[in-house]
Amino acid sequence: MVSFACLLTVHDLMNKDIIEEFQGSALDIPKSTGGTKKLYLESYGCQMNFSDSEIVASILSKDGFDTTQDPKEADVVLLNTCSIRENAEIRVRNKLKQFNKVKKDKPELVVGVLGCMAERLKIQLLDEEKLVDIVAGPDAYRDLPNLIEEVNDGRKAVNVLLSREETYEDISPVRLDSNGISAFISIMRGCDNMCSFCVVPFTRGRERSRSPESIIKEVESLVSSSYKEVTLLGQNVDSYRWNMTKKGEIIDPNKPSLDFADLMEMVALVSPEIRVRFSTSHPKDLTKKVAVTMAKHENICNYIHLPVQSGNTELLSKMNRNYSREWYLDRISMIKETIPDVGLSTDMISGFCSETEEQHKESMSLMEDVKFHFAYMFKYSERPKTLAERKYEDDVPEKVKAKRLQEIIALQSTHSLYQNTKMLGKKYKVLIEGTSKRSKEELYGRTTQNVVVIFGKEKYKKGDYVITEIESCTAGTLRGKALGYA
Ligand code: SAH
Ligand code: SF4
Ligand code: F3S
Repeated sequence: MVSFACLLTVHDLMNKDIIEEFQGSALDIPKSTGGTKKLYLESYGCQMNFSDSEIVASILSKDGFDTTQDPKEADVVLLNTCSIRENAEIRVRNKLKQFNKVKKDKPELVVGVLGCMAERLKIQLLDEEKLVDIVAGPDAYRDLPNLIEEVNDGRKAVNVLLSREETYEDISPVRLDSNGISAFISIMRGCDNMCSFCVVPFTRGRERSRSPESIIKEVESLVSSSYKEVTLLGQNVDSYRWNMTKKGEIIDPNKPSLDFADLMEMVALVSPEIRVRFSTSHPKDLTKKVAVTMAKHENICNYIHLPVQSGNTELLSKMNRNYSREWYLDRISMIKETIPDVGLSTDMISGFCSETEEQHKESMSLMEDVKFHFAYMFKYSERPKTLAERKYEDDVPEKVKAKRLQEIIALQSTHSLYQNTKMLGKKYKVLIEGTSKRSKEELYGRTTQNVVVIFGKEKYKKGDYVITEIESCTAGTLRGKALGYA
C-alpha cells in the first residue's frame, strides 16, 4: 500500500492500515498511573481502532493496569485488530505466532484479540489460535476486566456482543502514542452503509452517534491540556445526527438537534486556537452545509478525504456506494466552489469483481479530472460474508489487480507532484507537530489542506502556528522556510 502523504505521521493514522502493512503499532502510556499490572497493547487498522485502544487503556487503567512497551514484562497482551483486507489479518496471525514464543517462557501471560478480527471470527478464533485466551469485539471493552478475571480463573473468555447504543462516551480516553498536539475524538460508531466489498458493518455493527455534550466536554478537556488539533472520527461522519431521524425529522422538539455540520461548528467554536479535522466522509452524504461550515470557520481545516473507490458508475453500483461517477464529480465541483483552496484525497480500489480494462481507465480518468493531493490505493481483497463475496465472483486475476494498482499509484504520484508544485513560492500557515525524523534541526507541520511541510527549526517549537514559504518539493515532500508566527 502506498501513501503519498509526506511523512508517516498523524495523517497516516487516518489510514493506519497503510503503516500496518509493515507492522502493528505498540502504544504506551508515558505516565505511570500507579497500576500494579502491566498491559501491552498493539493496534492495527484504522484510526477508529487507535481511538478505541485509548478507551481500552482507560478502562484497564481503572483496573490497575499500566501499559508497557515490552511484551515480555506484560501480564496481559492485547492486539486490537483489523479485518479490512486479508493481509491485515495475516499480519495479526504472524504477530500471534511471535507471542506463542513469549508464552512458552511465561505460561501465565494472558493474550487477547480485540477489534474487528475478534468480531468477525468470534469463538472460531480460539480454535484457530490456541494461545488466544480472550476474544473481545469492539462493543465489549467495558467487559475486559471481567474477561481477564475469567482467564485468570482458568477459562477462555469471549464477548463479541454488538450494541446499538455503546459509544463509550463517558470514558475519557488515555491519550496514547500522542504528540500532545493532535487527538482523535470518536463521534460515532458502526456503519449502516453496506458497501458490498466491506467487512466493517459486520465487525462494527449499527451506526450510532455520540452525544454532543460528551464530545464538547472532551474537546474542552483537550484544549485545557494544550492540544491544538482534533480529528472527529466516524466511518461516515456525514451521517452524524443527534435527536434526529435518518430522514432529518426532529425526534424531541424540546431538545437540541444536530447534524454533522452543526456539531463541527460547535467544536470549532470551543476555541479559535484549535484546528478541527474530520474523517471519513461518504460522497453520497457530504452536504453543501458541511462545505459552507468549513468555509465559514478559519479553524476548520480545508481538507476533505472523500473515498471514491472507482470511477465507473456500473462498478460503483455493484459496490453499493449509492452514487455515480457524475454525482461524485459534482460533489467535488461543489467543494471546490465553496472552499477554493481545499485539499482533497481519496481511496481507490483496483480489480473489484468484473472490473474491465475500460472501467479501470475510468478510475484513472476520474483521478485526472480531480487531481487529488494524495490517495490511498488498494487491491480488492474479498472478505467473507460481504455482499460482494456472496453475489459476485472475485474474477480479476491477482496479476491484473497488481498491474492496475501500479498504474493508479504511478498516476497519483504525478498528481501529488502537480499539486505540490502548485504550492511552490506560496505562503501557508502550518501547525507544528514535531521534529522531522530525518534531522533534529528540522520541524514538520501541516497546512490546513493536510499537506506536510518540513522546515528549519530556528526558534519554533511543537504546537506553534507559523507561516511557511514553500521552497522546494517532490511528489512526497514539501520543504519550506518559516517566516514568523502566524
Ligand atoms: N468508512 C470509510 C473507510 C473504510 S475502510 C469509507 O467509507 O470511506 C478504508 C478503505 O479501505 C476504503 O475506503 C476502501 O478503499 C478500502 N477497502 C475496504 N474494503 C476493502 C476490500 N475488501 N478490499 C480492498 N480495499 C478495501
Ligand atoms: Fe465500509 Fe462503506 Fe461503511 Fe466505509 S461506508 S465503512 S466502506 S461499508
Ligand atoms: Fe479495519 Fe475495523 Fe477499521 S476492519 S479499517 S479496524 S473498522
